[in-house]
Parts: sequence; structure tokens; C-alpha cells
Amino acid sequence: MIPSVVGFSGDEEFSGTQALHQAVRNPKNTLEGFRKLIGKKFEEVKVPSDVTHPDMVSKGGVPAYKVTFKDQEHIFTVPEVVTKQLRHILEEAQTYLGSKVTGAVLAVPTYFTEHQREVLAKSAVDAGINVLQIIQEPVAAALAYNFGQSHPIKGGVQDKTALVLDMGASSFDITVLSVRAGIYTILETAHDEALGGEAFTEELVQLVAQEFKKKTKVDVTGNKKGLLKIRTAAEITKKQLARSTSAPCSAESVAEGLDYHGSINRLRFEIACSKLFARCNELIEHILEKAQLTTGAIDEILLVGGATRMPKFQSKVRDIFPETTIRVDEESDEVIAVGCAAQASLIAGFEKEDIIASTKENITVTPHTVKPIGVVGANDQFFTIIPNHTPLPAKRIFEFGQTADGQQEVYFALYEGEQDPLPPKKEKVEKHDIGSDDEDEEEEDLPSKPTYHKTTLLAEVVLKDLPAGAKAGSLKIEATVQVDVTSKIIITLREKKSGKQVRAESA
Ligand SMILES: Nc1ncnc2c1ncn2[C@@H]1O[C@H](COP(=O)(O)OP(=O)(O)OP(=O)(O)O)[C@@H](O)[C@H]1O
Ligand SMILES: [Mg+2]
Repeated sequence: MIPSVVGFSGDEEFSGTQALHQAVRNPKNTLEGFRKLIGKKFEEVKVPSDVTHPDMVSKGGVPAYKVTFKDQEHIFTVPEVVTKQLRHILEEAQTYLGSKVTGAVLAVPTYFTEHQREVLAKSAVDAGINVLQIIQEPVAAALAYNFGQSHPIKGGVQDKTALVLDMGASSFDITVLSVRAGIYTILETAHDEALGGEAFTEELVQLVAQEFKKKTKVDVTGNKKGLLKIRTAAEITKKQLARSTSAPCSAESVAEGLDYHGSINRLRFEIACSKLFARCNELIEHILEKAQLTTGAIDEILLVGGATRMPKFQSKVRDIFPETTIRVDEESDEVIAVGCAAQASLIAGFEKEDIIASTKENITVTPHTVKPIGVVGANDQFFTIIPNHTPLPAKRIFEFGQTADGQQEVYFALYEGEQDPLPPKKEKVEKHDIGSDDEDEEEEDLPSKPTYHKTTLLAEVVLKDLPAGAKAGSLKIEATVQVDVTSKIIITLREKKSGKQVRAESA
């Protein structure tokens, strides 16, 4: 993993880990967080300006960093910094591989605009990278987890729906993604910039600052440099707390020459972050509501981003989805890169035009069914023909028979389905005892797959004059249901023996 950091010190320019290491010593010349500024105008960017951040100025309307390099003031625009970072990544990759990198797949957040993609592509080209394709981060995650794709041994693609939960440093991004016949479609996205790993570190910084004050009587809250030292220490402590229930935290010369040496237990950290965790839950519930999905309709949860390693985060997700498969990768912060690499190896031999054509679909949210479309059986039971969240146009063909001897007419109707209400949730009491993240889940009724009942009649048709004297079930009637991109429904019924057929459309 190469952190997205670029730094300058004396006559030297650094990238990645080396740049990160000088961050505390030389914060004015350490550039971080530029990835999300790609393609933005200077006015759109909120720039913190103090002793712990580099100065930012506008250069031709584009945000740029003012740094000291080789004893002179230099101004580097965001795209220029991105180029420096990408060049560094390219060099590292070539050193590691011992060969030239011939092409690369890049991933961007779902909320990146076309313009942002173009600026990124240009920065990459300037860095000497042959950009094969730019894909969306959740799609890269799905590829890395091989979500819904054929199994190397069992084979067979599957139609499924995933919730991708990506918590990185600066935001929490959620995506509902479906896979139908191996093709990914992004159905819904939600995004909260107040909920990244940094927000969690910040809570820990506040905790440590309080402790420091208790121990030394020195208030560090207004001291930006002191807080930066605590933040660097807290970042390490936070990561350790993912593995153990308590972790040391040490920072030297925080304020007035005084050090801080202490230890933080996980429970305290989690309580301090309880509002943040609650907000994560709200965002998950919000996106499910927006997508009109219940928890049971999610087949898999794909965890992405370093901050999803927090045990409390995982146990909260488990609480919301008691039954769903949660895919976690030890290296959750590398999942997107792995997905890009997989895609690159897949398309390396393709023609450029084919690659572009194959990915246009991913750029915007494709039209899709919102509610399931189905037929009604005995006892008014609803059977789904085309599930909700199926990309349009869609087509399904199936066969059925007449139900009575001598029946010469069949009636066929399609309805929209509405989900049946779920049984009420049991009240949950949050317990706060150390190390019992996993045990504090109480017995709960597990929600099963959602069931539906019919609501609106969408289209109906009668196929008449069927061959006389046929026994129940002996005739084969083929139904073709098509839904076009405007959601218009077309039904065709055909009796296979006589070839008699009828067609109807929705209003
Ligand atoms: N073990 C851990 N426990 C808690 N947080 C962690 C752990 N490991 C990494 N993190 C946090 O994950 C974040 C970095 O994750 P990641 O590398 O996925 O972010 P990013 O993709 O660079 O950021 P963004 O998606 O916001 O642009 C940091 O805030 C880091 O503190
Ligand atoms: Mg990320």
C-alpha cells in the first residue's frame, strides 16, 4: 500500500510512505487528501489553513499547493501533485515487477463527475501511465470479491445484490450493486464525508487531549502542533485497538515540552465514537430505504476500506444483517486495487474501443425496475417474474399449462409487488463490556427473504380459442414478458401446439 501523500523537504521530493513520515516534522510541505480535489474548482474546495496544513492558492481557478522546495516557493496544482503521486506508484510497481507496466485500470468514487475522470486520466497520462480503463470503486470491489461471477470450480454466474460498505480515511461510501448474468449495475449510492477513519481518529485525539490535561494540567486543545502530534500517535493506537482490547498511546513533546504516555482501552474508544457508529447505521438504513430494499434482500455485504477493520463497525453491521454473508478481506484497504488489477488482466488483450463500449454502462445509474413484477397464484400468492432492481430492458420467458380439462381460454395478468411488512424488531439493549463485541448480539428473529403481495395491475391478456378437449396441463403456453427502458411492459402468450398467440402492452 502506498499512501497518497507527497512531500518536500530541502532539495528532496518524496511520495508515499516516506512523505508520510515527515508529516509531523514538516506539515506545511506535506500534501495529503488531494485525490478528492481532482477536477474541482478552487472555490469548491474547503481548505484548512494553519500551521499544520500547507497553504493553498488558486492557480487559474484550480486549487494548488504553495510549498517550499529547494529554498524557493513553488506552486503545484492538484493535477500536478496527482501526477507526481501516480508517477511514484508506477515506478514502485515497475521496481516490484522488474518489468515495464504496460497499462493500468484506475478506480474512482461513484460521485466523481465526468470532468473529474478526465482530469484524473490526464494526470495519469502525464505520469506516463497507459490508462486502459477507469472503473467505479464499488465495481472494483465486486471484482476483487468475485461477487456473482462464475466460481472457478462450481461455475455458474448468479443474480445477486450486494451492499458495498467502503470506509476509507475521509468518507463512508455505500453502494447497492446488483449482478445480473455477470454484469454489475450500481443501483443506489450514499456518501458521508463526516464518517471516515479520520473522524474516528479525531475522537481518540479528543480523548487523549483530555487525559493529557488531567495528567499535566496543560490544555492542548488550541495548540495545532500539539494536536497534530497526538493525532499521529492516536492513528497508530486506533489501528492497534482493532486487534486488542487496549493499546498504548505515546506522543513526545506534546505541549510545553511535556510527553504523553498512556493506554486507551477499546471500550472507551468505542463509547467516544458511539455517535459516529450510530450515524453509520443511519446511512445504511437510509440507503436501503432509498433503494426500497430490506436487509433480507441483500445477498452479500462487501467490506472495503481500512476503517471497516474496526471490530465495532463489523459487529454493528452484523446487528443490522444477522443473516447476510459479510465478505471481509484482511487487507480491506487493498480491495479496490486488487479489483483494478483483476480487471486490467482481464481486458489487457482487448481493443480500446471494446473496452470503452463495455464500460459506458457503468458510468451512470442504469434504468432498472424498482418493484418486482410478477403473477399471482392460488391464495393470492405473489410469484416474482422480474425482480426489483433488474436493469432494463429485461426479458423473461417461461411456460405454463391450463388448469382445467377442456379449458379453451387462459387469462394472464402481471402485477407490481409490494413487500410484506417485516415482523417487528425486538428491543435491543446495548451492553458495554470489554471484549464482548461478538457476544453482545442477542437472539433475534432472523429476517428471511422478503415476501411480496400484489398491488397494481400492470398488464393483462386473454389467449382464446385453445384446442378443444385438451386435458388440464397438457397444453404448453409460453409467456414472454418484456420490460423496455421506459418501463413499458409487453406480454406475449403463445400456445405451442397450435401456434396461436396474443400480445398486450401495459398502458
Ligand atoms: N486496523 C484499523 N483499524 C481502524 N482503522 C483503520 C485500520 N487500518 C486502517 N484504518 C483506517 O482506514 C483509513 C484508510 O483506509 P483506506 O486506505 O481504505 O482509505 P482511502 O481509500 O485512502 O481513503 P478515502 O476512501 O477516504 O479516499 C484510515 O483512516 C485508517 O486510520
Ligand atoms: Mg477509499
